[in-house]
Amino acid sequence: MHLFRRIIAALLVAAAVWALPVVAQAQDYDLNFTLPTAGKSGCMVCHADKNLGRVKGSTWVSYWVDPTPLDAGPHASIMCAGCHVDFAYKAPHNIEQTEWARTAKLSCKNCHQEQWKAYSQGVHSIATQPGETIDKNAPEKPLCGDCHGGHDIMALTENPQGKAKLRSEGEQICGRCHKDFSESYADYYHGAAYQEGATDAPACWQCHGWHDILPSSDRRAKVHESNLQETCAQCHSMTNETYISYSGLIHKRQQAYEENVVYSFIMTTKASIQEFLGHISSWFT
Ligand code: HEC
Ligand code: HEC
Ligand code: HEC
Ligand code: HEC
Ligand code: HEC
Ligand code: HEC
Ligand code: HEC
Repeated sequence: MHLFRRIIAALLVAAAVWALPVVAQAQDYDLNFTLPTAGKSGCMVCHADKNLGRVKGSTWVSYWVDPTPLDAGPHASIMCAGCHVDFAYKAPHNIEQTEWARTAKLSCKNCHQEQWKAYSQGVHSIATQPGETIDKNAPEKPLCGDCHGGHDIMALTENPQGKAKLRSEGEQICGRCHKDFSESYADYYHGAAYQEGATDAPACWQCHGWHDILPSSDRRAKVHESNLQETCAQCHSMTNETYISYSGLIHKRQQAYEENVVYSFIMTTKASIQEFLGHISSWFT
């Protein structure tokens, strides 16, 4: 019995030691260095260390880089500094998070020029157009990496798995900035099915496009009246004018209901009946 208790105590101590966080490993590294090699391995000398991290405030921030998603994706043969371009010669490890992350999220344009060109022509373009002034208070626009992520990017061309992953992140890709339209996308056939996770229901970008998104008032927009036929025809073979007119309900089903006289009559009548019934029931309580 005595021995048993001692074993338990020893186990508890071992467990407690094991559970102690490995604190502030980052401080063990000298960050004032020049890279031994510009290749991946130069960065992974440190970033392959699972304990690489730091206590910031009350949380443990990990800087460990899991090589698995990178190696499995289309960027397997790209150097870390291909995206982290500001780390190319001398790793500037003491810069602001927003600064290096922004650089990485935009590095994509160096290799994906076709997408950069399309993006630059759309409403999300971060380039200032002639005659436009920079408004520091304007809401944030998405950079390539905001929609696509970084290390977990998957091939999309002829890769249904990659496309399925993107679909499942729709809320992050469009919804987080367009909450109103994400919520109002609730028509019977598309939105309701999409929100239930139906794989054939259109994702936002199947109607709006992805890099060259434009407001519906712009003639070039995929959801401009003059282009709706083509946009809907991606999935529907019979698209006459009546059919197209349905697009008015895609985001405005609720509004259409409320503007409908019969509907509002029913709703007000229903409310007064409920009030009336409420009165009656109060006589008995
Ligand atoms: C000598 C070790 C070492 C090497 C080599 C190294 N890093 Fe780091 N890296 C660190 C440490 C330590 C941190 C945590 C910095 C801190 O304390 O905030 C870090 C953090 C980072 C961060 C996050 C920065 C932040 O402020 O959140 C990025 C991005 C990064 N490293 C990229 C790279 C890239 C790309 C390479 C190769 C070009 C590289 N690192 C090479 C040790 C290293
Ligand atoms: C395809 C571009 C790309 C490549 C290649 C890439 N990164 Fe990143 N990395 C990013 C982006 C974008 C972020 C920022 C993610 C965010 O803030 O949402 C990031 C974040 C990081 C961070 C911060 C911690 C984290 O995981 O968010 C570290 C450290 C880092 N990268 C190191 C590396 C290293 C080391 C390599 C090479 C083995 C590498 N990266 C390759 C794009 C890339
Ligand atoms: C608003 C979100 C968003 C932004 C910003 C964005 N993308 Fe995309 N991108 C997507 C979506 C969604 C798809 C996939 C559409 C599909 O095929 O289903 C895609 C597809 C791609 C593809 C696959 C080929 C293609 O063109 O369809 C590449 C490469 C790509 N994006 C790179 C980029 C680059 C580079 C940038 C920055 C210049 C960028 N993306 C900005 C959402 C975005
Ligand atoms: C150093 C060059 C380079 C950089 C930087 C780079 N990529 Fe790529 N990317 C490639 C190559 C090469 C491929 C594979 C061939 C292809 O599909 O174009 C690829 C493939 C992709 C694919 C899959 C395309 C498809 O149709 O299957 C996406 C999506 C993508 N990259 C997005 C990004 C994003 C987002 C960034 C920035 C965070 C980025 N890339 C940074 C070179 C790069
Ligand atoms: C990081 C936030 C962010 C993300 C993510 C984002 N957007 Fe936007 N979007 C904006 C901002 C900001 C504007 C306004 C730009 C302007 O008016 O100059 C905008 C404008 C638009 C417009 C034109 C709206 C109008 O009233 O003129 C459409 C349509 C649109 N986005 C659709 C999308 C779709 C679809 C996605 C996903 C593929 C998406 N957005 C992802 C921030 C975002
Ligand atoms: C089946 C096609 C379709 C899908 C899917 C779709 N939309 Fe729309 N969207 C439209 C049409 C058509 C309009 C223009 C008419 C209107 O305002 O209702 C529009 C309008 C918009 C607008 C207003 C700006 C403008 O261009 O007038 C935004 C923002 C928007 N959609 C975002 C989204 C987001 C976010 C999603 C995904 C949650 C989404 N849409 C899914 C068809 C679609
Ligand atoms: C990415 C594919 C896709 C796109 C793009 C798309 N739809 Fe649909 N739509 C569907 C699916 C899937 C259904 C459900 C089919 C069913 O239940 O038979 C549907 C159902 C419908 C229905 C119900 C009646 C029917 O024919 O089954 C209407 C009306 C409709 N869509 C109109 C539109 C309009 C208008 C547009 C263009 C603004 C559009 N759709 C764009 C996929 C799409």
